[in-house]
Amino acid sequence: MADAKKLYIKTYGCQMNVYDSERMAEALATSGYEQTQTAEDADMILLNTCHIREKAAEKIYSELGRFKPLKAAKPDLRIGVAGCVAQAEGAEITARQPMVDLVVGPQAYHRLPEMLAKAETGKRVIDTDFPEEDKFARLKGRPAKRGAPAAFLTVQEGCDKFCAFCVVPYTRGAEVSRPVAQIFDEARALIERGVCEITLLGQNVNAYHGAAQGGAWGLAQLIRELAALDGLERLRYTTSHPNDMQDDLIAAHGDCPELMPYLHLPVQSGSDRILKAMNRKHTAAEYVALIERIRAARPDILLSGDFIVGFPGETEADFEDTLALVETIGYGQAYSFKYSARPGTPAAEKPEIDPALADERLQKLQALLNAQQTAAQEAMVGRETTVLFEKKGREPGQLIGKSEHLQAVFAEAPEQLLGQIAKVRVLAAAPNSLRAELLPA
Ligand code: SAH
Ligand code: SF4
Ligand code: F3S
Repeated sequence: MADAKKLYIKTYGCQMNVYDSERMAEALATSGYEQTQTAEDADMILLNTCHIREKAAEKIYSELGRFKPLKAAKPDLRIGVAGCVAQAEGAEITARQPMVDLVVGPQAYHRLPEMLAKAETGKRVIDTDFPEEDKFARLKGRPAKRGAPAAFLTVQEGCDKFCAFCVVPYTRGAEVSRPVAQIFDEARALIERGVCEITLLGQNVNAYHGAAQGGAWGLAQLIRELAALDGLERLRYTTSHPNDMQDDLIAAHGDCPELMPYLHLPVQSGSDRILKAMNRKHTAAEYVALIERIRAARPDILLSGDFIVGFPGETEADFEDTLALVETIGYGQAYSFKYSARPGTPAAEKPEIDPALADERLQKLQALLNAQQTAAQEAMVGRETTVLFEKKGREPGQLIGKSEHLQAVFAEAPEQLLGQIAKVRVLAAAPNSLRAELLPA
């Protein structure tokens, strides 16, 4: 279409935001917008934002500032803020940045085409409702004909856990699981578009309990039944809470070959005192015992985690407990953060610890986690595994993809293997990638 308007979306935060950005782009395609990769030629700029730490939220305001000259040069340019900052700050955003035309929270995305139509007439629109209607059923879009071979699929959204530091229960709302039939429709549509790996998403995805004929299904049943779909070769899920790791899900890691041997299971801290203050509702020993059961089901599973250092009241002894827990578990990959006080959360009421001390602890923890990741990468050398090739590599003749353990792998491979799963042997390891050779199919 020659007269298609151009949409520039920039995504911050977690995988659910990546998924949401795709849905919003599809929804706006029905309003005549096609995506562009640069803000400069856009008619609509949409920032899909993250509120998890202060830095993430502040970044949005500096990014908006960058668009000022664009708006001055093109008064018809529409600027929208979506995602968790939109939900948390609502009209405050337009107070701080009056050039913002549209603010839309994560539960109102299905209303985006109408909102944009209003914004195009020069009105400012703000919608941070948690509506009764089913957003997913109403999100009508025009999907791209063929996309990447690996895709995200949101099956659960929101969180009822209320960890003392976290904004997610406020920005995403209460836990909601999508009905099984809806998920199957979406999975089948993805497979038709060439997808063979699906990552099921949820803020607490292992608390999934979706309506199905004859009762509700848990995540384990959903995984097993999806695995039976023709053309679906690989399944993953993220993110999980230790307290929702049911026996049938652990068993699936042992006997469902499509479920990949990778698990992101955040623990945040190794100190029982801090876990209690964080409202995590389990002890360090219970987490270790849980990991032992998971490893008994799938010995080669690669574990990933999230950690927060410098939570209010964290002593040196508490931090030592975190290091000890990391030593005990042995992570193949992990994310660690310095605590950031978030307005409206219970932890934000408590006095913060010395930021220099928190920095020091973060560096120590990251050194240990990095060493563990390097060890896990090196342990792959010489092993045979499979790779789903997703894109061309930097060198000619090379393809890049993901191993079963979610490691980046590159290998010399013919282009027709793009989008395919191939057998490889790992030749060498770097901290963030593996070099492999193709094996005969
Ligand atoms: N639903 C996911 C986490 C979402 S946030 C879960 O429960 O695991 C991702 C990670 O960000 C969290 O696991 C935590 O480690 C970190 N995080 C959340 N709030 C934070 C805060 N206020 N300061 C620092 N890190 C935080
Ligand atoms: Fe946040 Fe805790 Fe919910 Fe995860 S489980 S989203 S950390 S409140
Ligand atoms: Fe950020 Fe919202 Fe995801 S706060 S981590 S974008 S759920």
